[in-house]
Amino acid sequence: MSRLVRVSPITPEAEPIREAAELIQAGRLVAFPTETVYGLGANALDEDAVGRVFEAKGRPAYNPLIAHVADLGAARELARHWSEMADRLASAFWPGPLTLVVPRAPHLPGLLTAGLPSVAVRMPAHPVALALISAARVPIAAPSANRFTRLSPTTAQHVAQGLGDRIDLILDGGATRVGIESTVLDLTGPQPRLLRPGMLGVNQIEAVAGPVLAAPQIEGEAPRPSPGMTERHYAPLAQLRTVSAAELAGSGTHTIGGEGSRTGAIVHSAPDPLVAQVIRLPAEPGGYARGLYDALHQLDAAGCQTVLVEHLPQTPAWAGVRDRLRRAAAAG
Ligand code: TXA
Ligand code: MG
Repeated sequence: MSRLVRVSPITPEAEPIREAAELIQAGRLVAFPTETVYGLGANALDEDAVGRVFEAKGRPAYNPLIAHVADLGAARELARHWSEMADRLASAFWPGPLTLVVPRAPHLPGLLTAGLPSVAVRMPAHPVALALISAARVPIAAPSANRFTRLSPTTAQHVAQGLGDRIDLILDGGATRVGIESTVLDLTGPQPRLLRPGMLGVNQIEAVAGPVLAAPQIEGEAPRPSPGMTERHYAPLAQLRTVSAAELAGSGTHTIGGEGSRTGAIVHSAPDPLVAQVIRLPAEPGGYARGLYDALHQLDAAGCQTVLVEHLPQTPAWAGVRDRLRRAAAAG
């Protein structure tokens, strides 16, 4: 099992950060908190280290990683061309839950970008992440610290459960604040294009960058503009079903999953339905996102085969949460 070391999420202690940075420099793997989810970190400039990330996650090599930086200069060094648009977005939202896809510099390992001509870059808004990147003095490649297609981790315990035997050190900075992965924006075309919605909303981005092209709808085997856009992703073990508050209130919902199957529910405004386990999340997108993955982890741990999820509002503020639930519910 990997070692789990507690570190203050506000003023990270020097010693665990130094140890983690030395591991990164030695090409090893360190899981660390960001404001969105925990990342599985490795030296982004070391092809072997990046290879270990893919191996630990069981992630296919066609799906590129995000390089995390602690300052704008480091972001520029990863890019072949750093546009005025990238500059504007970075100054408005970094550090923060926004990933920018930009043309890649030639010196990056091909594995990091999965052979694409672009690279994804982000400056996370978390003191532990920033301290680690600064101390390591290299950009840190970090996907979410979960096995491929499984739930993203929002606590160090989630990381340990999923990847504990496959990484060298886990920095435990407590539960993450945002709760779902960053918004991913492609800046390689003439106009910014949303690749993955997140808690930084399109409205906020458009206020700074002008019109943003919508996330493409992916059908069947069509080529994916973002290789990570496999339909079933962020997935719990249980089968998720989105239901209306009226359906939840209907009698006999406890048998929805079939005779003898254990059913759970996630509600935010409906009254508690008659199921084995109910988790209530805040009826507001920020709080809902913060609690979502932990709720799904808990319902999995409780052995729920079916999870009923109360319908979410169709407003833009909920877009990131709706996207994750839609993927988690997609038939595997
Ligand atoms: O919040 C987050 O973004 C977390 C934390 C750890 O920073 N990281 C994360 O990484 O969610 P990951 O690897 O699970 O998701 C990265 C997404 C994937 O969908 C990937 O396909 C996409 O970004 N991506 C990476 N590089 C890309 C590129 N060059 N072009 C298009 N999409 C890219
Ligand atoms: Mg992920």
